[in-house]
Amino acid sequence: MQKDKYYRMIESPDMLDYGVYLQCDKLLDCQKAIKDLATADEMQFQIIHQVEELWMKLICFTLVDILDYMENQSHHRVITLFSRVHKLQRMMVDQLDVLETMSPKEYQQIRLQLGNGSGQESPGFRMLLKMPNDLWAHFTQYYLENGKYSIESIYDDEYIHDHKYAVAEALIEFDEQLQLFRWRHMFLIHRSIGLGSASLKGRPVDLLQKGAAKRFFPELWDIRCAMTDKWSVEYGKVRPSISGKSNT
Ligand code: HEM
Repeated sequence: MQKDKYYRMIESPDMLDYGVYLQCDKLLDCQKAIKDLATADEMQFQIIHQVEELWMKLICFTLVDILDYMENQSHHRVITLFSRVHKLQRMMVDQLDVLETMSPKEYQQIRLQLGNGSGQESPGFRMLLKMPNDLWAHFTQYYLENGKYSIESIYDDEYIHDHKYAVAEALIEFDEQLQLFRWRHMFLIHRSIGLGSASLKGRPVDLLQKGAAKRFFPELWDIRCAMTDKWSVEYGKVRPSISGKSNT
C-alpha cells in the first residue's frame, strides 16, 4: 500500500471555495506532520485536544453574548444561547470517549512529546473557569434584582416557573455539565495513566477530585436540599407505607 500517497492527500488537499473560506489549509497544518508523529495515536490525541479548545472558544464567546442579553433582559435569547452552550458542553464530555481507544502503552510515548504541558494550562478551560463569577453577578443583578427576589422565592415560596426560574435552571445545567466534564476526564485518566500516578505536575488525584467536587453556583444546589428538609419537617421523614408492607 502506498501510505505516503494517501498521507499527501490528507495533509495537502485541493482547496476549493469551501476550504478557502474555512481556512482548511491552516487548520490541517495545526497538527504534527504525519512523518513526525511519535505513534499513530498522537494524531487523535492532538486533534481531540484541539477540537475541545475550539468548543471552549465557542462556549466562552457564547457566554459573553449571554451576559449581554442578560443585561438587556432578552430572556428568550439567554435561554436559546444557554441551550447551545449545554449542547457544546455535552459534546465536550462525549468526545473524551475517543481517547479511550488509545492504549496506555501508546500514551506513554505521547507523554514524551508534551514537555511540561498539562491540561491545567488549557487556555480554553482557564477562560471557562473565569465565566461563572460574572454569570452569577449578572443573574443576581438582573434576575434577582439585587435582593428583590431570592432563590427561595423563585424555586419555592413564589414559584411560577417564570423567566427567572428558567435562567436559574440554565445556570445549574451549565454548572452540572462543567462538573460532568471533570468527572468524565478523571475516568479518562484512570484508563490511560492511572489516577494515583505521579503526573507532569505531581499527583493529580487530589487536584482533580477537588476540582470535580466544585459547584459553581452553590445556592442553586442548596435550594433543593432546603426544600426537601422543609418538606420533611412538614410531612415527616417516615410516612405510612402505601403497600401496607414493611421494607425492614
Ligand atoms: C489521555 C488523555 C488525557 C490525560 C492522560 C490527561 C491527564 C491529565 C492530568 C494528569 C491532569 C492533572 C494536571 C496534572 O497533574 O498535570 C489533567 C488536567 C486537565 N486536563 Fe487532561 N488529560 C487528558 C485529556 C484531556 C483532554 C482531551 C482535555 C480536553 C480539554 C483535557 C483537559 C484538562 C483540563 C482542563 C485539566 C485541568 C483540570 C481541572 O482544572 O479540573 N485533558 N489532565
